[in-house]
Amino acid sequence: MNDPDQLVSNMSIMEKISLIVGAGFSKIVPGAAGETNPVERLGIPAIVLSDGPAGVRIYPLRLGVNETFYVTSFPNEILLASSWNLELVEKVGKAIGEEAREYGIDVLLAPGLNIHRTPIEGRIFEYFSEDPLLSGEMAASYVQGVQSAGVGATLKHFVAHEQETNRLIINVVVSERALREIYLRPFEIAIKKAKPWAVMAAYNKLNGVYCTQNHWLLTKVLREEWGFEGVVMTDWDAGNDPVEQVKTGVDLIMPGRDEIIRKLLNAFRNGELSEDIINKRVRNLIALITKSLKYKKYNPSNKPSYDEHARISLEAAIEGFVLLENKDALPLKSASRIALFGKGSYWTVKGGLGSGDSYPKYVVSIADGLREKGVIIDEEVERIYRNMVHRWYEYGESTQLYKSMTETALKEANSLLIELLMTHYVYMMIEYIKVMHLPEDAFPDEFLERVAERNDVALITISRISSEGFDRFPVKGDFYLRDDELSLISRISKIFHKHGKKVVVLLNVPGPVEIHSWRNLVDAILVIWLPGQEAGRAVASVLLGETSPSGKLPLTWPKDLYETPSMKLHPGVPKDNPVEVLYAEDIYVGYRYYDTFQVEPAYEFGYGLSYTKFEYDNLVIRNKDSEIEISLIVKNTGDYPGKEVVQVYVRPLRSRLNRPFQELKGFHKTKLIKPGEVEEVTIRIPLDYLASFNGKHWIVESGPYEIRIGSSSRKIKLASVIEITSDICYDTSWKRIKCN
Ligand code: BGC
Repeated sequence: MNDPDQLVSNMSIMEKISLIVGAGFSKIVPGAAGETNPVERLGIPAIVLSDGPAGVRIYPLRLGVNETFYVTSFPNEILLASSWNLELVEKVGKAIGEEAREYGIDVLLAPGLNIHRTPIEGRIFEYFSEDPLLSGEMAASYVQGVQSAGVGATLKHFVAHEQETNRLIINVVVSERALREIYLRPFEIAIKKAKPWAVMAAYNKLNGVYCTQNHWLLTKVLREEWGFEGVVMTDWDAGNDPVEQVKTGVDLIMPGRDEIIRKLLNAFRNGELSEDIINKRVRNLIALITKSLKYKKYNPSNKPSYDEHARISLEAAIEGFVLLENKDALPLKSASRIALFGKGSYWTVKGGLGSGDSYPKYVVSIADGLREKGVIIDEEVERIYRNMVHRWYEYGESTQLYKSMTETALKEANSLLIELLMTHYVYMMIEYIKVMHLPEDAFPDEFLERVAERNDVALITISRISSEGFDRFPVKGDFYLRDDELSLISRISKIFHKHGKKVVVLLNVPGPVEIHSWRNLVDAILVIWLPGQEAGRAVASVLLGETSPSGKLPLTWPKDLYETPSMKLHPGVPKDNPVEVLYAEDIYVGYRYYDTFQVEPAYEFGYGLSYTKFEYDNLVIRNKDSEIEISLIVKNTGDYPGKEVVQVYVRPLRSRLNRPFQELKGFHKTKLIKPGEVEEVTIRIPLDYLASFNGKHWIVESGPYEIRIGSSSRKIKLASVIEITSDICYDTSWKRIKCN
């Protein structure tokens, strides 16, 4: 294998620059988002980059090819984070990595690890959590999984990319403390733990400078302070100055255009861009390319292990569902007769749209998943839904349309292909949104009376779709329920309760919706997020009690959208066409705000019910030199086997800096514990996790800290106080320094 330095020294300036600039959307793998330019003379192959977080995003059909190229659709990241299960997330990452490998992808453009700053972020489903530790740990496991398959992973979008509105130009104004403690932190954790091959610099500006043109971010913090050694790429068409991008730290400009090559070449010729800088960028790229499967001449099979991956997708979906309410309604008996309401029951939304989308062979709807398990679905209600929706949308029809558009596009020039397919996505999205907005309460009371008599339970699915490119809307039909949805819930509840029957709501949503005003009307609420292709099977497993729910919220579920602190200034100024958004809540994001300022959310961070009960006991805390070791016993005292998420929050009892009331510093998902059995849990918290950024450096202030062990951020079951005897300080590279 060639030595990267040797390869660089053999390249002409034109070859070097053409490597720094991407070769556009992939021609090798149709539908993959990008490709690099090869240097054939030196045996440097073109490598292929593809989205995305919930499954490899390539086109399933190719002209003149009989084979299909479907992928497995996995649950979105907000669901993966709700599992709090690092091993499981690694398994999902590995499966996605293997599919990427078998389809000829060298670098996966995932995971996304921006922070859930507002519940209506358009891409909230693509990100893990409002908490930096949970986000960082999840991302690290995901990356480890992907890279174990020989495919590189990309952390995105670096950094402070928390809204879609005007995402290409928005200037995010945020303090260095909030940046370091909340927004940079997950990237830092994932880079240290998992060594991702690449980082994608975000579209937005950060304190006045585009992230892709930001020396402080890309060179000082990322490379010098954190020692990142991989490739930095731009998001697709990010920023406005390619020369500045290369100068400040970008190795790869994506998707790339000839005009950019010309600009870089001119800048080199007129002395604005030195060969030294160019060589540095090329060396990073060569180091990645020589690790790639293409370079190693791996022969992709185009045949991923669908069955095995479907099982992993199912397992992950089940474990990320969050049970919010349960008044003796769940689990159902398998013999139940169910009246299934809500379009999402029959057309379950598997994932979000945009680059986080993927194209599976099938999506198991909730109706089909339940039917597979022998549940009897009320035929008349189903027929009404199918008639209502049929003329607008059918999964089969849209697949046909997709196929014919792909074929047309493939006969044409490449740019047209992209354009047509993009048009198709937009078309699909509009169709989907139209369907989801068809009124739900098409059922007169007399009809519901009859349905209630002949069924055991009513199940209502409320669905929402979300996409890259737009934020969700703070209106009825998106964050708030529409009047017809509310009236359906209240009329069904009244009538079914009159007949002594239960009502269960499933939330098939990318992120929170308003729930506080109607939650008391129903008997159970289960959040199934956007659960991937095995949606219905996962729902059946949990509803029928084959698995006890064990997901916990990775973000605070507010009573009202406008209680979220970030909503005061969302989406920035001027309001109708914002160019700047101030992160005025600073470090008080999510539960850090709700707990510190004593605001009651609908459901707190870390919340989630189970069919069984857990008791915590025998807390022992050892305050060692560089870590705090916590051990305890978790006992299943209920009637069902189940898993528990043990969460450790640390609360400074005295502090000179303003600090959140408490912060998550460790967690552990137990194995399946049988009734009456226990698991011994040990959680280690590195001492530096207790540090705050004081504007200059990190400091763990001396004083008492309460170590709080809970099953949610507000259900603290055990606690004990430790004492840090003197201040401990670290510089921004985490080297111990003297405090002054
Ligand atoms: C998205 C990225 C994605 C890229 C390539 C951009 O619009 O922001 O997340 O990886 O497109 O599809």
